[in-house]
Amino acid sequence: MEWTTEQRYRRIEEVSKEEYGKLIDQVKHCPYRQMYHIQPVTGLLNDPNGFSYFNGEYHLFYQWFPLGPVHGVKYWYHTVSKDLVHWRNEGIALEPDRPFDSHGVFSGTAIEKDHQLYLMYTGNARDKDWVRYPTQCLAVMNKEGKIMKYEEPVIKNRPYQVTEHFRDPKVFQVGDMYYCLIGAELEGNQGTVVYYQSKDLVEWTYKGEVKTSFKGNGFMWECPDYFTQNGKGVMILSPQGMESQGDLYNNIFQSGYLIGEEIDWQNGVFKHGSFVELDRGFEFYAPQTMQDPSGRRILVGWFGLPGVDCVSDENGWAHCLTIPRELIVEENRLWQRPIKELEQLRKEAHTVTHLLQQESISFEKINGIVYELTAEFTEIEAQVVGIKLRKGDNEETVFYYDLINRKLVLDRSKSGRTCGDEYGTVRKCHFDEKQLKLQIFVDVSSIEIFVNDGLEVFSTRIFTKIESAGIEFFTDGMVQLKTTKWGLNV
Ligand code: FRU
Repeated sequence: MEWTTEQRYRRIEEVSKEEYGKLIDQVKHCPYRQMYHIQPVTGLLNDPNGFSYFNGEYHLFYQWFPLGPVHGVKYWYHTVSKDLVHWRNEGIALEPDRPFDSHGVFSGTAIEKDHQLYLMYTGNARDKDWVRYPTQCLAVMNKEGKIMKYEEPVIKNRPYQVTEHFRDPKVFQVGDMYYCLIGAELEGNQGTVVYYQSKDLVEWTYKGEVKTSFKGNGFMWECPDYFTQNGKGVMILSPQGMESQGDLYNNIFQSGYLIGEEIDWQNGVFKHGSFVELDRGFEFYAPQTMQDPSGRRILVGWFGLPGVDCVSDENGWAHCLTIPRELIVEENRLWQRPIKELEQLRKEAHTVTHLLQQESISFEKINGIVYELTAEFTEIEAQVVGIKLRKGDNEETVFYYDLINRKLVLDRSKSGRTCGDEYGTVRKCHFDEKQLKLQIFVDVSSIEIFVNDGLEVFSTRIFTKIESAGIEFFTDGMVQLKTTKWGLNV
């Protein structure tokens, strides 16, 4: 169904209880609803926003269009958790109810100050000729969860040469100063990140572009993020418009990181190495990080992509968030591990050790559609070793190590119903390790594969039949396998 502009800009308050009730019902009956991923009650979810720890709990907001699986007028939806595993839906946090955010409360971040949580976001407004006016806006949440918007945007004008694409403030503190990174497009279709400085989060001074050798890639850099760890500076970006290069950059848009020296905020200089994709799989975009009270850096991504449909659209909802990943900076790169807290979900374990010899094999009780699984392939004497997930009649999602070409491969060409096939159904990345160690999270309609303690991650949504619940291990040579599968308490 084509959605008209009018339908996309219809607000949830205008819809009758009956009409919305029908949509809720339709979504509830969708066979692809997830069991432990954050997903919208109805409509479309996109970027994680305002990921933070405040007043003893984790807060995670997200971009939300309630009325259908399309990018319409955006709200911030609020979820809360004590452990990053069990989330409580709190409902709408920010609505598009002011002239400066009338066409969407766009992405942004949160930071605690004076016992309140400050939410900085982009107000997306359009005039009658559909010209866009982005501004950066502020709202404050108190300990009771009450949110008040500032009456006026705190950054009203965009810098010289920045087009209408000026959004997604990331706020953080360095010493006694606050900084705000904003994703932007410069005239001439160049992506960039600009930054501002403030002493109080309200009065902002424009400092300039972050000077990086990555400039020249992409026409718009969305959702910048930045943190330091072990003396390194890490910038995360979602650049739009990078050309694919062999195994790299094959999704419609990418999300990745630059790692280097800490940014010199006096001059805005960032010295760093090359751009590395955060996820080697399919749907992954606009991630956001936060630092928890114990000092861990945690990332959550949008398990979706702009401009690509989702099979569940037909049931009135689209997309979810990824599981939280802990980020570790070591050896000049990022390692991404599923947060430890997810172990709480584990039910009984089934473990098998087996010497695979030119075979494809399944094991009793090692199957399912919602589970965590670890698999270690050691003493590899083969050209290929791998695993098939959600296997059934004519269906399977295959992940393997191709030792001849030294690559990891994720193949979803037989995963069932798909979207975005025009971008290919196989993803690969370079891999040259002696062992293959997998930690895999499977939910009803997704797979997240962490390789060798977070060296690489492959994520994919899958729309496979519920009956396709098999797991198979395979090799064309010899390999020692140890695998454990846990059902999950969800
Ligand atoms: C990224 C993005 C952001 C924007 C938001 C709007 O997916 O386009 O740049 O703030 O989504 O929903």
